[in-house]
Amino acid sequence: MQTIRWGIAGLGKIAGKFAEGLALVPGAKLVAVASSSGERAQAFAAQHQVPRAYDHFAALAQDPAVDVVYVAAPHSDHHPLSLLMMQHGKAVLCEKPLAMSLTQVSEMIATAEARQVYFMEALWTKFLPQFTRLQQLVQQQAIGQVRSVHAQFAFVPPFLPERRVLNKALGGGALLDIGIYPILLANSLLGPPDQLLAQAQFGPTGVDEQCNMLFHYASGATAVLSCAFAYTGAVEATIYGTEGYLHLHHPWHGLCPALSWYNGQRELVEKIHFAHHGNGYNHEAEAVGHDLRAGRLQNPMVSHEFSRQLMATLDRTRLAAGIHYD
Ligand SMILES: NC(=O)c1ccc[n+]([C@@H]2O[C@H](COP(=O)([O-])OP(=O)(O)OC[C@H]3O[C@@H](n4cnc5c(N)ncnc54)[C@H](OP(=O)(O)O)[C@@H]3O)[C@@H](O)[C@H]2O)c1
Repeated sequence: MQTIRWGIAGLGKIAGKFAEGLALVPGAKLVAVASSSGERAQAFAAQHQVPRAYDHFAALAQDPAVDVVYVAAPHSDHHPLSLLMMQHGKAVLCEKPLAMSLTQVSEMIATAEARQVYFMEALWTKFLPQFTRLQQLVQQQAIGQVRSVHAQFAFVPPFLPERRVLNKALGGGALLDIGIYPILLANSLLGPPDQLLAQAQFGPTGVDEQCNMLFHYASGATAVLSCAFAYTGAVEATIYGTEGYLHLHHPWHGLCPALSWYNGQRELVEKIHFAHHGNGYNHEAEAVGHDLRAGRLQNPMVSHEFSRQLMATLDRTRLAAGIHYD
């Protein structure tokens, strides 16, 4: 099997988790990392046994022994770093949200196409076992026609105004950081909404700390979605159909314990438990490896068009809710 040689650009919390997941992927090797801080790069490389550590991103882009770069920087850096890597011929797996706007995403996709390099948004949730099973059940019409998606993600982050989650200059705020998960579920099952309503509330650093959304589809289906940094919420999703409903316990993460399937009489048909392998980030990395070995330039589950529509939905939600960035 051809070994896929990985690099990571941006060495925060998620980069560490991804490196742990990647270590379990057959035929994958983390060979280089880059940070804006040389010290952070050295420390990360020592912790994860990475041969090369760079204190600037261009060095990683120019490393000939790197096939694919995982861009794990704050949202505001996804666009410039992905472009830099692709312009040097690297395949790119870029963290969510893919960028700050549809305009940026379109430029990134156009660059991938022009350079003929692989490009995918790191929507790891789409590769987790619960998501695959959910989509199978929906396709098999286990709950009839999907009529409504209810989903939420809420937690209270530590108050660190300089770090990316609450820092507007770095693309902070609940919608882009965690609201993207309920939206990606709705978009996966129902496509982009025909109409939407959204309302946000803002915290002391100026970022949205709550966003409530109502999506309408021409079919008559709806989605009721929310995200917040203002309270601790149950991380759950329910998909309602004409003949029952599916309830996901902890849908977005690698440790989803179960998916409950109810029939039209609200009786439990099956509680499906999932066997977990690794921390969950291994699944998306494995998918990228399969794509690269097969010569694909995009992933069938997280296609360029899916990411384009996801970003378009985020842009429309921001507009409706009055969430602005400079
Ligand atoms: N898929 C997921 O489950 C998931 C989860 C969390 C986040 N994400 C996404 O991944 C991206 C990065 O998120 P993150 O949670 O990893 O962010 P983070 O921990 O706040 O790190 C963000 C950046 O801050 C810098 N940094 C790291 N440690 C630092 C420190 N102690 N002091 C100052 N700066 C430091 C690093 O930049 P340098 O490398 O340049 O030094 C790093 O790239 C975001 O776009 C986010 O949406 C995805």
